[in-house]
Amino acid sequence: MAIDPSSHDTAERVERRWAILVLAIAVLLVGMVVYTGLHWAMMPPSRVETVRPETLGVSGEFIESNLGSAPEADGSVTVRIVAQQYSFTPQCLVVPAGVPVTFRATAADVVHGFLITGTNINSMLEPGYVSTFKTTFETTGDHLMPCHEYCGTGHQNMWAHVKVIDRAEFMERAAKLPARSRRVSCVQ
Ligand code: CUA
Repeated sequence: MAIDPSSHDTAERVERRWAILVLAIAVLLVGMVVYTGLHWAMMPPSRVETVRPETLGVSGEFIESNLGSAPEADGSVTVRIVAQQYSFTPQCLVVPAGVPVTFRATAADVVHGFLITGTNINSMLEPGYVSTFKTTFETTGDHLMPCHEYCGTGHQNMWAHVKVIDRAEFMERAAKLPARSRRVSCVQ
């Protein structure tokens, strides 16, 4: 049986169309990977608030005396943290159980990770941005807070402790501190 030359042309045309379609999908996927990698992955989730990293220890919200757990007038607690190679300040946090806790954290140098084991807190700390996270610890207990973004040669040694204590005990400890600097941490 003779092969119809037009059927060969048809097959070639169809094959070429499929090849172009597959190539277009591959290009689209690579484009998405590059876009998310360069843009979104380099930003903390709550990237609306900016802070100048060079002023962290000098003035403003993140000066050293303002870091730690601060009781608010409405009964909630705000915890301020600065991450730097290769530690968190403070290295040990104290928070009350059963109270809404707002974490406000930033990085002084490079991107660090912010994760508290056994909770839903899992974020990034990016220099120039304030990462904010709200949670309520239901029970007392100890948690680890490792940095889980590779940040340099000392990365694996970078972690802090979180101690969740009874609400009354927390408020008692806070009340003992001078009124202008009620910042609770493990080191008082
Ligand atoms: Cu900081 Cu890894």
